[in-house]
Amino acid sequence: MVSLKGKDILHGNQFSRKEIDAVIKVASDFEKELKKKDSLTLLKGKILATLFFEPSTRTRLSFETAMQRLGGGVISMASAESSSAAKGETVADTARTVDQYADVIVIRHPRIGSAKEAADAAQAPVINAGDGAGQHPTQALLDIYTIQKELGSLKSLKVSLVGDLKNGRTVHALVELLSLFGTRLYFVSPESLRMPEEITSQLKQKGIEVVETGEMKEAALASDLIYMTRIQKERFGDLSEYERVKGSYIIGSEFLKKLKKKITILHPLPRVDEISQEVDSYPGAAYFRQVRNGIFVRMALLAMILGKR
Ligand code: NCD
Repeated sequence: MVSLKGKDILHGNQFSRKEIDAVIKVASDFEKELKKKDSLTLLKGKILATLFFEPSTRTRLSFETAMQRLGGGVISMASAESSSAAKGETVADTARTVDQYADVIVIRHPRIGSAKEAADAAQAPVINAGDGAGQHPTQALLDIYTIQKELGSLKSLKVSLVGDLKNGRTVHALVELLSLFGTRLYFVSPESLRMPEEITSQLKQKGIEVVETGEMKEAALASDLIYMTRIQKERFGDLSEYERVKGSYIIGSEFLKKLKKKITILHPLPRVDEISQEVDSYPGAAYFRQVRNGIFVRMALLAMILGKR
C-alpha cells in the first residue's frame, strides 16, 4: 500500500513509480467526483497555509482551490513584503510559527533549499511550491498527470524540454519523474542555459537517453511532446545576458506547419513570448488543460498527505 501520510513533498527524486501511479489514480477520482459535485467534505476542519515569498498565480490559487474543494480552510501569505520576512524573520522561524496554525504548509521562496529548511523546522508536512532555481515537484506531478491524459500513456515517450533548462525548476523536477518511465529526453536550450550537469549525468547513469541540442526543430520532429519554458529573467544576475538569450525559441503556427505532424505542447506558464497566442487554438496545445489538472493533482496530494486517501 502506498502512503504519503505525513510526508513532505520537496523534490522530484523522492517519488517511486507506485507513488506516482497512486497520485494519478486519486487525482483522476477527484476529477470525476468534481463533475458530480462542486465540493467535497473530506478535509473539513483541516487548514492549509500557503506562504509565497515569490510571485505566483497558478500554484497558489490552485492549492487554495484544491483545499477548498475538499472542504478545508486556507490561510495565506501572498508576498514577502506583507509578512515578517520583511522584518528579517528566517524561513525556519516563519515555518515554526505557521506550524502552530496549519495542518499542511505550502511554501515558495527564492532560495534553493528553503523548503527543506521549512520542513525541518515544522511538524506539519511541508510542500515545496518552488525553491528558487531548485525544484517544483507538484508542478512535475501535474505535468505527468497531463501527459497521461493527453497522450494516453507514459510509456516509450520522446519529450523535448525547451528554453531555460538551467534555471527552470519545473524541468528539474519533471525529468526526475520522467526518468522513472524511461522517457527519451531532448534538452533544447541556448548554450548558457543548459540543464545543470549533475542532473544530466545522473539521468545518463540511470540509463536515460539524453540528447542536448540548440535546435528546437530537429528535437521537436523526433518528439511526441514539447515542454516549453520561460527564460527565467529574475534569475539573471546580468540582464544583458538575458537580453541576449530572450526570444531564443518561439513556437508559432508557421513552426507547427513545418513539423507536419501532431505534437502535444505543454508549458507550466506564465509564458512571455515563447508560444504565440495563435497556437492556443491548435488541438495539441494543452497548457490551459494542464492548468486545470493542477487542481485535481493538488487535491490528491493534500488528501494523501493528510492521510485521507
Ligand atoms: C513556474 C514556476 O514558478 O517555476 N510556474 C508555475 O509554477 N506554474 C514556471 C515559471 O515561472 O516560469
